[in-house]
Amino acid sequence: MADTAAAPGRRPIVVVSNRGPVTFAADPAAASGVTARRGAGGLVSGLGPLVAGTDAVWIAAAMSEGDRLVAERGVTDAEGYRVRLIDIEPAAFSDYYDRVCNEALWFAHHGLFDPVYEPAWPPGWVDGPWAAYRAVNEQFAEAVIADAPQGAAVLVQDYHLCLLAPRVRAARPDLRLVHFSHTPFAPSAWLRMLPDAVRIDLIDGLLAHHACGFHSSRWERDYLDSCEDAGRLANATFVAPLAPDPDDLARTAAGAAAVRARADLDELVGDRSFLVRVDRIELSKNVLRGFQAYEALLEADPHRHGTVVFGAFCYPSRLGVAAYDRYARAVVAKVEQVNERFGTASWTPIHYDPTDDYPRSVAALQRADVVVVNPIRDGLNLVAKEAVLLSDRDGQLVLSPEAGAWEELGEHGAWEADPFDVGATARALADALDADAEERARRAASLRRAVSARTPGDWLAEQLVAAEVSD
Ligand code: F6P
Repeated sequence: MADTAAAPGRRPIVVVSNRGPVTFAADPAAASGVTARRGAGGLVSGLGPLVAGTDAVWIAAAMSEGDRLVAERGVTDAEGYRVRLIDIEPAAFSDYYDRVCNEALWFAHHGLFDPVYEPAWPPGWVDGPWAAYRAVNEQFAEAVIADAPQGAAVLVQDYHLCLLAPRVRAARPDLRLVHFSHTPFAPSAWLRMLPDAVRIDLIDGLLAHHACGFHSSRWERDYLDSCEDAGRLANATFVAPLAPDPDDLARTAAGAAAVRARADLDELVGDRSFLVRVDRIELSKNVLRGFQAYEALLEADPHRHGTVVFGAFCYPSRLGVAAYDRYARAVVAKVEQVNERFGTASWTPIHYDPTDDYPRSVAALQRADVVVVNPIRDGLNLVAKEAVLLSDRDGQLVLSPEAGAWEELGEHGAWEADPFDVGATARALADALDADAEERARRAASLRRAVSARTPGDWLAEQLVAAEVSD
């Protein structure tokens, strides 16, 4: 995989995303003044292996003190990547990231607004946070203009960066721009919940790319509807779901940290069934209803007490956004309530682990009897696919049809969990836990075939094909 992005005859590649593949910590003891480690988040685990070890330049925001030191150095080689970090003034970054990306665009695309109360854009929102979002996108545009090699394919990732294309197109007609949404796209009625000028800016910004890509045809349709709703002719679109890299997963699973974590989990679970979820504590992931469904299962079926452990590897995120902080507290309270209600001296029904530990998550997915992925709405959900490839015991997948991955996996052995129907999710968990060995094997094999039908290289190749559409 490593030389995919550098294949001869291809355009040079520039990846542009908010989070970079590497993050730096200031370290006076190191010769370079910083130490590097792999960046957080799903985007990096999906795209990282595709460009590591190639000449591709990855442009991202500086998000730590160490990142800001590296930002001063221009394009920098670290951990197999060529990174170019952009130093953004903290107040502007907070408006761009917290107020716009996380509180406005994320909510619109995932259907998280409660329209009785929100959104209620305060006076000045368009000239304040939205102007900051514009300005940060301009900063990214200037970095692309300065650092993209002649004729490069510029692969712009996600809702953070919808407005950089018009400026780049004007200054660098030699470049080809592809935007890819890792989130769902808001249906037009939801996009209309943004201020009108913002909605039109967004659509015009996306239309300035040569093509826009999505993980599922549902999100593509929603984008096309919103273009029409804005009275605009759509640009080229394509559907290209990401796939996990089986070699990368196998390497992590064989590493010392995952092997140690696996031994700990084996001891923790013993001969009980292991139900697992691995998620950021994220409103769209629907962690709370997942616990409610498990509670309903324990309430309805006392014979299950002591026979199953729910390993919930859910780490906090975006605590700067009030709704996330509230939600994280509600999740922890629910765990405590279920454990108090049903737990015994020898059995804790939910093993809750809030540390973001990638090898440990890999070990948990490998050991799981059932993995639950029940989002309200989700661009893809790479974890669902990783779980299928990692399982070494015909692990079952309980999956929401609102995850982008449903389009590929729904008919191939996943157990359906309506994300809003706690009773239906509880039944799906019960069915998956109770499936006999033959059914488990049949479903797991079918899911493995479906997941293996695509490679991470397919995703990249499809971006490059999309970059060639005629103007
Ligand atoms: O779902 C799309 C995505 O970019 C993920 O890859 C990532 O986990 C998330 O959105 C953004 O998270 P954060 O705000 O922590 O960077």
